[in-house]
Amino acid sequence: TQEQPLLGQHWVITAGPTREAIDPVRYISNHSSGKMGYAIAAQAVAAGASVSLISGPVNLAPPQGCELIAVESAQQMHQAALTLAPKANVFVACAAVADYRLAKVADQKMKKTPGQDELTLTLVKNPDIVADVAKLADKPFTVGFAAETQDVEQYAKDKLARKGLDLIAANNVAIEGQGFNSDQNALTVYSANNAFDLPLGNKSAVAKQLIEIIARHFDES
Ligand code: C5P
Repeated sequence: TQEQPLLGQHWVITAGPTREAIDPVRYISNHSSGKMGYAIAAQAVAAGASVSLISGPVNLAPPQGCELIAVESAQQMHQAALTLAPKANVFVACAAVADYRLAKVADQKMKKTPGQDELTLTLVKNPDIVADVAKLADKPFTVGFAAETQDVEQYAKDKLARKGLDLIAANNVAIEGQGFNSDQNALTVYSANNAFDLPLGNKSAVAKQLIEIIARHFDES
């Protein structure tokens, strides 16, 4: 129908930060609020999609009507994504995944060592979730995000190609009042051949427009 253009489609969306444990009481993470991913999930539900939202730890109520898969680490998010993505029509990677995790998580709380003023942690690379989804034989229509502080178009297009994405939504996080923790965002969405500007607005309005662009390209794919 007009109001429910995504009826019959299954969307899988990642959102929020990941948390990489150092020991039982400490972790490495980032400032992602999850607001953009949750707004996309809510708008996709409103448009009639069946939505699985794979979320890192955030302070947001899950949108009504979607399946919430709560995870902490990048490895957990990776596993959930690769379980759900093969049956999905659309995969939207909105999560701010930690690029690295601890090579070894300490079993016990780490103690200060007297006289030791430096501590070195060894990190290893996390899997690239969206790139691995895009490599699936039964790959869903795959959309990534790029948060950049400079050369936004070039970095976004590099990521589109390198990760095998169908679309990438880029935002300039150096501009105050948009992106990361804000309630507002402005995006430029790139396909291989086109660019679409979504002007600054609240994340719900931007999410709605983004979904329309995704739906149009998905229908043509
Ligand atoms: O390479 P970069 O982290 O800037 O790419 C951002 C895009 O890749 C986002 O869509 C993000 O959700 C996704 N990503 C991912 N797994 C990672 C790193 C990034 O899915 N390990």
